[in-house]
Amino acid sequence: MRPKIVVRGLAHEYINPFTQERVVALDGVDLEVEEGEFLTVVGPSGCGKTTLLNILAGLIQPTHGTVLLDGRAVTGPGPDRGVVFQEFAILPWRTVQRNIAHGLEIQGVAKAERAAVVRRFVELVGLTGFEKKYPHELSGGMKQRVAVARTLAANPHVMLMDEPFASVDAQTRITLQEELNTIAQATRKTILFVTHNVEEAVFLGDRCCVLSRRPGKVKALVPVKIPREHRTWKLFTSDSSFGATKELVLKLVREEVGREDTV
Ligand SMILES: Nc1ncnc2c1ncn2[C@@H]1O[C@H](COP(=O)(O)OP(=O)(O)OP(=O)(O)O)[C@@H](O)[C@H]1O
Ligand SMILES: [Mg+2]
Repeated sequence: MRPKIVVRGLAHEYINPFTQERVVALDGVDLEVEEGEFLTVVGPSGCGKTTLLNILAGLIQPTHGTVLLDGRAVTGPGPDRGVVFQEFAILPWRTVQRNIAHGLEIQGVAKAERAAVVRRFVELVGLTGFEKKYPHELSGGMKQRVAVARTLAANPHVMLMDEPFASVDAQTRITLQEELNTIAQATRKTILFVTHNVEEAVFLGDRCCVLSRRPGKVKALVPVKIPREHRTWKLFTSDSSFGATKELVLKLVREEVGREDTV
């Protein structure tokens, strides 16, 4: 079977328009992501993770290399890919249900069908009862769940997530990780998920992609051999391979950052 995403010889250089200073963010990235795979991406700060996601989203044209989605070159953004940015990307003047319906409205989906889809995703992300609330009435974690539901409701083939849980508290983060795992299992989406948190990367990933320090390239792809049904924190942490996999990923990342840095 052909992989869902194929990245070949990807390099990206930013040029500061004022100083002409060049920053090589990525160099020589090769990567294949299978259909339905959950790939987590870790690496030191500034190694090019966001750049890679933005290239896959079609928001940045790479300096060199190719990205194929279903065998076709990515040349710009498209409805086949949904992005969840680190900052909440929800519309403050719309209620929860109208935020979630946003992508469907753009696609011209009929009202009755839209309502049914919104109901399904409101339930999936645990926001039943909050449909008519506005973002300012929600907690940070709830806003993040709206952002995830909104992207899912638009039904992209691929979800690109850039540290989506970085700004939520530890308890909410655990809930969101378990919910995202349930969603991944239920929808079989292909997901690329960037995080600084190695435990999170191991908990969520089918494989964990470790990028080298800048210019980022793929340093290692670590498989996580724990069945998806065991991906609740209680079951997961009691699995004997969890600790060893986490230590391996941590070691690979630490080799790339200065000892004084945090991962
Ligand atoms: N628009 C830009 N113009 C110039 N340089 C940029 C731009 N965006 C990113 N960079 C540089 O490219 C490198 C990679 O940035 P990127 O945001 O992809 O890293 P990252 O791995 O996502 O970092 P973090 O973990 O801190 O989010 C960094 O050195 C950054 O300073
Ligand atoms: Mg980033």
